[in-house]
Amino acid sequence: MKLGPENPPTGAAELGERFGTPLYVFDGEMLGAQARAFREAWGSGATVAFSMKCNPLMGVLARLHQEGCWAEVASGFEYRAARRAGVGGKQIVFNGPLKHDDEIRRALSEGATLIVDGTEQVDATVRFAADAQVDARIGLRLTPPDRIGRDRFGFTPAEAAVAAERLAAAGLAPSGVHVHLGAYQLGPFSEIGPPIHTVTVEYPVPISRFTDAAAHALSVADTIGAHEFLDLGGGWPAAGPQLDEYVAAVRDTLGCDSREVILEPGRALVRDAGWLLTQVAARRSDGSLVVDAGVTHAPCVLWKRSPVTPADPRPGEAIATDVYGPLCLQHDVIARQTELPPVEPGDLLWVGQAGAYAIAQASPFIHLRPGAVLLEGAIASLLRARETDDEALGVQAEPLLVGRNGVAVTT
Ligand SMILES: Cc1ncc(COP(=O)(O)O)c(C=O)c1O
Repeated sequence: MKLGPENPPTGAAELGERFGTPLYVFDGEMLGAQARAFREAWGSGATVAFSMKCNPLMGVLARLHQEGCWAEVASGFEYRAARRAGVGGKQIVFNGPLKHDDEIRRALSEGATLIVDGTEQVDATVRFAADAQVDARIGLRLTPPDRIGRDRFGFTPAEAAVAAERLAAAGLAPSGVHVHLGAYQLGPFSEIGPPIHTVTVEYPVPISRFTDAAAHALSVADTIGAHEFLDLGGGWPAAGPQLDEYVAAVRDTLGCDSREVILEPGRALVRDAGWLLTQVAARRSDGSLVVDAGVTHAPCVLWKRSPVTPADPRPGEAIATDVYGPLCLQHDVIARQTELPPVEPGDLLWVGQAGAYAIAQASPFIHLRPGAVLLEGAIASLLRARETDDEALGVQAEPLLVGRNGVAVTT
């Protein structure tokens, strides 16, 4: 059977016994297939740079790199991780609103595609222009056309023209532009009740936003003379008929333009190739379950309905079941009213669609972070060990008890 969010891998018991639960499990063949299909959908004129923020495991990036993907990084930390995973500087797109001077200098000297966002980054890039190899590429991040005046990311067309002039004067004329349409949008504060605002998640980003952004980026690029590449960011659907529609619409907008198109998919490449394996710790009298993985291990389950499947289903009628994590939080809900056959404490469950923005955002809040493995056929290899007390606490200084109420303690 083909693996998918609802069809998890086999071998849950062995995996759980060997590596412990909770455990992130990634399927290498699926990662490879997703990357190949995504690249094929765009054809040879396109560069696919996997957005590392979505899944920072070096082993996952290396697997996608093996299929020809570059890395899109959004910080110096991610840049260094990509380099350690074996991605060359020339195959890195360096984004982000905060880049330190030494990080800009390194990216320039290693020939990365540096996406400049803000005048401070123009200043730094100009300062290090002398260090830049001839082939370091500069791009300017643009504010999406529907967010101008309401977004901290990117330049307006007028600002981009000024930035391009300054960079050109330093010998680093931008050769491309970048625009990313975020899937998360923050709404206004509610006018009644507590001061909370809404967050809307729109994934994949609607097709018309992509075509509008592509037209906008193309027009700004032509105005500032940046003719080499057009980076259209992330937010794409996974390879399949829906992506084909997106590609056709964007290609239509770009017309016969032949510049390189860069795409920065995150979840499209990895979401469905990852699962979280979790063990049932308790069953409550209302039939609900408490498992050992919580929303801190997969914050993404708060936004969507991730499929939950028993690893070894027991016979019996499926009933709507609530599945809670182990945290002392009312919103620690892995699944609500999901159809499950009878489940007992000790059973293993798979949570699907856990490949994107799960391990990336996991925190040691109340419980330590799980380990991660990569499956290649029947071979499971460790990508990241389970966090230990020493790792979580080792960065803290241990308190020295010198006294109580100001009185020194003597032994
Ligand atoms: C600049 C940039 N590129 C790519 C992505 C990946 O987005 P997605 O996972 O929706 O494809 C993000 C996500 O926030 C991003 O900020």
